[in-house]
Amino acid sequence: MMACLLLLAAALGVSAASAQAVISAQGCTSRSFSIPSWFINDLSASDGKTSFTLLNRATNQTAEYTCQGTNCSAGEELEDLIASVQVSATTANVSVNQTWVCSDRSPSTKFIAAGTSSVSLTDGKAASSPLLVKGSLLQPVALTPQYNKGPTGHDTPGCLAKSEKPSWVLSHVIWADQDGDEITSVKEQRLTFILTNVATGYEASCMSQGPVATNIFCAGTEFQSFTVGRYSISTAVQFDPATYSLTVNQTWFCDDHDAAKPLQISGSGTVALPLQCKTEPVAESPSHLKKFCTVPDDDSVTVIGTLGTVVTLAPYSIEDPVPSNQDSCTISSIFNPRWQFSYFSTYNNSISFEIILQTNRGFRYPNPVYQGKATGDGWFECDIGYDGGSQVPDGPLWPYKCQFAYDKETKELTLKADWECTELDPANPVRFSGVSTTTVNSNIVCEKVEHREYTDEPLEEGEELTVPDPIGVVDFCYTENPSFSWTGEIKDVTWTSGKSA
Ligand SMILES: *[C@@H]1O[C@H](CO)[C@@H](O)[C@H](O)[C@H]1NC(C)=O
Ligand SMILES: *[C@@H]1O[C@H](CO)[C@@H](O)[C@H](O)[C@H]1NC(C)=O
Ligand SMILES: *[C@@H]1O[C@H](CO)[C@@H](O)[C@H](O)[C@H]1NC(C)=O
Ligand SMILES: *[C@@H]1O[C@H](CO)[C@@H](O)[C@H](O)[C@H]1NC(C)=O
Ligand SMILES: *[C@@H]1O[C@H](CO)[C@@H](O)[C@H](O)[C@H]1NC(C)=O
Ligand SMILES: *[C@@H]1O[C@H](CO)[C@@H](O)[C@H](O)[C@H]1NC(C)=O
Repeated sequence: MMACLLLLAAALGVSAASAQAVISAQGCTSRSFSIPSWFINDLSASDGKTSFTLLNRATNQTAEYTCQGTNCSAGEELEDLIASVQVSATTANVSVNQTWVCSDRSPSTKFIAAGTSSVSLTDGKAASSPLLVKGSLLQPVALTPQYNKGPTGHDTPGCLAKSEKPSWVLSHVIWADQDGDEITSVKEQRLTFILTNVATGYEASCMSQGPVATNIFCAGTEFQSFTVGRYSISTAVQFDPATYSLTVNQTWFCDDHDAAKPLQISGSGTVALPLQCKTEPVAESPSHLKKFCTVPDDDSVTVIGTLGTVVTLAPYSIEDPVPSNQDSCTISSIFNPRWQFSYFSTYNNSISFEIILQTNRGFRYPNPVYQGKATGDGWFECDIGYDGGSQVPDGPLWPYKCQFAYDKETKELTLKADWECTELDPANPVRFSGVSTTTVNSNIVCEKVEHREYTDEPLEEGEELTVPDPIGVVDFCYTENPSFSWTGEIKDVTWTSGKSA
């Protein structure tokens, strides 16, 4: 059955997207942090002798290895690489441990990574090629980069086999169609249902947009998930209110047959919805009718479709991290650590400012830091404000602990801060610490403001918020341009990794 689909795929014109094209968006250093891993190609084993080609995915170096027993060597070996295999009649386990240096960044960085992967053998040949050996980094930080989960159901057993004859189950189908004069009654059409792809188990909620329900919007879990990766399931549905004919067109992914050959599959199908309807006059405007239709629950609708295009994607690309054009938290913190400061102000001489790491930050806003308790010699603890960052998957991009000193005369702000990056391996955050000495290079203007003290107590039921009477006048000072922001380099950065304390 699988062979049949693969043949069909070939007939439809399979295009092999290039792994290299995607990876080359990033340099050796970035790739060493995000995908310290190897591809093992053309593995074959016979008579105690094993051979394969090995590609380091971070450096792009390749070499051909042959192994006597468990030890492997190459004519031209990769730098500091130890490879070994354990082979049985049905399986080969390949272990790789390599030390390499990337010089695309300054300073050059030494990486050590090790990993093991196993592949089943058929007549001494690997059943899957290339084989991916995912590595854990040992240096410069100890962590195991996480991979994505990929689009729903891509590795569900039977995904590819069932995709040969695509089908979808529609449930909770409701169609409402109301006529109206748009004065006393509105003209309104609404279609909603849940669509489940039988091959992947992917569920999408679908609903019509606008007054005439021909274009239906469908969405699944991909909207809440940050671990889908670069491929996302997409669904297009059309509905004809005159005939109840509904057409589904979806693109999904299967790699249950072989993660080295992920497939992007499109299919479509049409069904006439067996709607059961009630029609009655609109209460406000009895000359207009409203129709309300459902499919009885025990009669869920199955749409049998046909296969469209099938595209072979780059090996393992479904779960690979999505390459970014900007440096992540960890890489920024190691190679170009900078804080961005903004909203500097003093209130009755108590300092506050906002802060965020200068890195690939997406929709992330700076976090306020207030003056906490004095620790002597002009230093204060940071009282870190609203920590919205703990909610986001890549963690906060501001200090979790800091101290600062401010010299009013020179406007020099010195910040000693600890921060962490979790984007590579949430279980093993990389913890940084460093010092930034910077100048608030703006005119500071002051005004006198009335000071009021608000209570933290929640309002009683029916109680209105009352503004307390002022209890004094204080100086409120801020940068002349209130949205003035500046960056400060972070010096003397040190880091460690491992599970958070
Ligand atoms: C990796 O090597 C392949 C073939 O040797 C080459 O085509 C590709 O451009 C290289 N990619 C990078 C990022 O160096
Ligand atoms: C394999 O390598 C190990 C460690 O380097 C060595 O002790 C052992 O003798 C080697 N075995 C063979 C068969 O070469
Ligand atoms: C490969 O590794 C697995 C898991 O560690 C182990 O159970 C299996 O026996 C190994 N196979 C061989 C041929 O050594
Ligand atoms: C990999 O090699 C390094 C030294 O080159 C060693 O410290 C480390 O223990 C090895 N790791 C594994 C998992 O073999
Ligand atoms: C389904 O969608 C794909 C991609 O958008 C498109 O190429 C194809 O023509 C559509 N098929 C149908 C039957 O609408
Ligand atoms: C302003 O600061 C001074 C000195 O720290 C303190 O004594 C005073 O109570 C503060 N005023 C207000 C209104 O908080």
